[in-house]
Amino acid sequence: MNRFDKEALSWDDLPRRVELAKAVVREVKDKLKKDDKVLDFGCGTGLVGLNLAPFVKEVVGIDTSLKMVERFNEKAKLLNLNAKAFKKDIFEVDEVFDVAVSSMTIHHIKDLNALSMKLQNIANKIFIADLCKEDGTFHDHGNEGVEHFGFLKKELFEIFRDFDLEYRVIHTIKKGENREYPVFLLELTKRR
Ligand SMILES: C[S@@+](CC[C@H](N)C(=O)[O-])C[C@H]1O[C@@H](n2cnc3c(N)ncnc32)[C@H](O)[C@@H]1O
Repeated sequence: MNRFDKEALSWDDLPRRVELAKAVVREVKDKLKKDDKVLDFGCGTGLVGLNLAPFVKEVVGIDTSLKMVERFNEKAKLLNLNAKAFKKDIFEVDEVFDVAVSSMTIHHIKDLNALSMKLQNIANKIFIADLCKEDGTFHDHGNEGVEHFGFLKKELFEIFRDFDLEYRVIHTIKKGENREYPVFLLELTKRR
């Protein structure tokens, strides 16, 4: 059982996670079309994907944690949503989607040049939310499985250079008295 399996049942209990997901949904939902098929990679319990489902034709979640996937599917069923999750690594996806979204996942993925190439093949438009560059203090439980301490804008523009890019800071996660972690949203559009 990995860290995410262990945390799946209580994942939604942390208000800061719910708040961040709301900010991502608020920014992304108006850019989606009613007939879009949307992939949420690193979907977790569906804080982003399930809240986008009412605005699109279908949401497919994928996550390497089985417990997260199970929680996503329980919630989708309960809410009667057009959304289903599968236990899968993003590098195993070969279905094609109109849009891919992802929140707080790419800092767990080591090879982001490979991710950029993968995304070129599976989606036309991609929204990625994650931490701006941080000093390694974001994860209170330690940094096992953390491949990147957030990202500089220029690093992201280099990694995803084959896309048209828009970058903006959409939210700040606050921890304790004076720890603040800004979160960016990157909008990638595949060049024709
Ligand atoms: C920090 S959680 C974010 C979950 C959710 N997006 C949210 O905002 O609540 C990161 C998730 O990404 C998943 N993950 C990490 N690497 C992955 C990969 N290569 N492919 C698919 N999922 C991955 C983890 O299992 C975990 O559930």
